[in-house]
Amino acid sequence: MVRRKVLKFALVAAVALPAAGVTELPAIAGGQPALDDGAIIAIYNQVNSFDIETALLGQVMGHSPDVRALGKMVSSDHTGVRKAAHELAEKIGAELTLPPARMEAAKAHYAAVAALRELSGADFDAAYLKHEIAFHEAAIEAVKTVLVPAASHGELKAHFEAVLPHFQRHLDETRRVAGELGVE
Ligand SMILES: [Fe+2]
Repeated sequence: MVRRKVLKFALVAAVALPAAGVTELPAIAGGQPALDDGAIIAIYNQVNSFDIETALLGQVMGHSPDVRALGKMVSSDHTGVRKAAHELAEKIGAELTLPPARMEAAKAHYAAVAALRELSGADFDAAYLKHEIAFHEAAIEAVKTVLVPAASHGELKAHFEAVLPHFQRHLDETRRVAGELGVE
């Protein structure tokens, strides 16, 4: 039971922080977060990396074949997206600088990973699927409401608009697998 409580706490923190870490940054006049494109892409890469790492856990530790297949798709897609973001940063000359506030998100993520690694079988599948649903809901919201409005380069905005349907597809597929396995 203690283990489950730790996992629940870590998952909630990891999900809440990607957006919170952004909005806690110093604001400029007008209340907009002071994020330049280099910081936006660095945050975006960090969140993609979080999802790659948890998806690889799903791919390797998943009990259900559907969970393993989901993990494989998500890890592969986000690896491609992270590569595209790096290439875009080079193209538009954005210097990647991760805001120090994002350390808290990293801590929460690694707590969630450690908690997931303690589980196995159907318990792992349930915890993993819940994590992925909450994570994608928060990530999609953060991209739409924080990163897209803050992005100054047109190609960066276009990148986000292009990947959002794929993130939504991950969320939809994760919800489908959760439904099939009776995970609520
Ligand atoms: Fe995803």
